[in-house]
Amino acid sequence: MVEKFMEWDDRLSVGVPIIDQQHQRLIEITNDLYDACRQSGEIYTGFVTALHETVDYVGYHFGTEDKIMRRINYPEYALHKKEHDTFVKEVLKQMHDYENEKIYAPHALVRYLKDWTLSHIALTDLKLGTYLVNMKKSGDLEKIIDPKS
Ligand SMILES: [Fe+2]
Repeated sequence: MVEKFMEWDDRLSVGVPIIDQQHQRLIEITNDLYDACRQSGEIYTGFVTALHETVDYVGYHFGTEDKIMRRINYPEYALHKKEHDTFVKEVLKQMHDYENEKIYAPHALVRYLKDWTLSHIALTDLKLGTYLVNMKKSGDLEKIIDPKS
């Protein structure tokens, strides 16, 4: 079996299914991006396409967390949002540089994605997850985090 670039591990769980599911998807997408930067041939086009998919999904996922945090008046919202915004800004900057062919170092970007995601999940998202789990014990959290509502 080929070793995956990123692997979901239950230790990454923040205790909230919707967030965990999206993190699992994000890991899959990052693996696709990693594969895209290892492919020969139309490497540049393939990588940029995969990068766009990653950026779209990251935006969607951050949107979910953002909505949850605002709904519960999360006390650490500003800090958490700042981390998301800084990350998006950095990834967009790198994407822009690729598209303008200023630099081409796909491995560096994929590694940055991996390192940032793992540390953000382990610290910042876990803190949010723990807060939500504690809320659940005292209220109707399911209604709050239902993405369809
Ligand atoms: Fe987050």
